[in-house]
Amino acid sequence: MQIPAWQFLACIFFAAVWHDMASLLRRSTAGLGRYTNMKASLPPFFSSLNPPKSSPFSTTLTANKMSPHSTSPSTSTSADTFLSALATRRSNYALTSTSPIPDSRIQHIINQSILHAPSAFNSQSTRIVLLLKNEHQKLWDITRDVLKEVVPADQFPKTEAKIASFRAAYGTVLFYTDHATLRIYQEKFALYADRFPTWGTESTAMHQLAVWTALNLEGLGANLQHYNPLVDERVAKEWGVSKDWELMSMLVFGAPVAEPGVRTYEGVESRVRVFGA
Ligand SMILES: *[C@@H]1O[C@H](CO)[C@@H](O)[C@H](O)[C@H]1NC(C)=O
Repeated sequence: MQIPAWQFLACIFFAAVWHDMASLLRRSTAGLGRYTNMKASLPPFFSSLNPPKSSPFSTTLTANKMSPHSTSPSTSTSADTFLSALATRRSNYALTSTSPIPDSRIQHIINQSILHAPSAFNSQSTRIVLLLKNEHQKLWDITRDVLKEVVPADQFPKTEAKIASFRAAYGTVLFYTDHATLRIYQEKFALYADRFPTWGTESTAMHQLAVWTALNLEGLGANLQHYNPLVDERVAKEWGVSKDWELMSMLVFGAPVAEPGVRTYEGVESRVRVFGA
């Protein structure tokens, strides 16, 4: 049976509109209120960025439509979308044990970040362990126990309260460098052998930025902690992490209950130099 082309196209159009509306409804109940509030506190430069393209709607909808392994540049995005996303990334310590987005969405963010964040020689040496709910709480129980052995008794109550605030969140992303991978590249590119550990660290940092920013865009608050290497051994034992993986940082996240603190900015003039423009 032949379907007229206009009917076929109309069906696709309505399906696309329906999909977008469903996504919008789902998201509008979650983290958008916070994002809108945060936008008001952004510095003037970022507030002046192209408003329609920097809206969280277009960001998430574009991300939804992109194929996970797509290598062709998206035409529906621009640098401003990306830059305003960068500007929304903040440290937030007032977090709860809930998430405005499903776990599958968090996993999607992790998967996309590990695929697309850069690494020297495309060595792909970063590893990620995602801990949610009970597993996240276990991590912070371990951290508290480890700290109890090294922090002076009179200072421990303060430390314990701090750890409890991380434990009260929804999840933690652990970022690792895999030294087994680095060793392969150190042998292959012997001239740069001593540079690879630094490049590995730089690569994990780029993954941290990607995951942190993406979580913030989806309405989750986050803060980055470094109780490594104190907790490395216990964590490796608990979750069967390879001895070759070195823990670099711990990104704590959850639904925020308060706005992050006001961010201050050093002048761009003293930090950027331009020649030939
Ligand atoms: C993320 O990747 C893991 C490992 O391949 C896979 O099991 C999981 O289904 C992926 N999740 C999403 C949401 O992409």
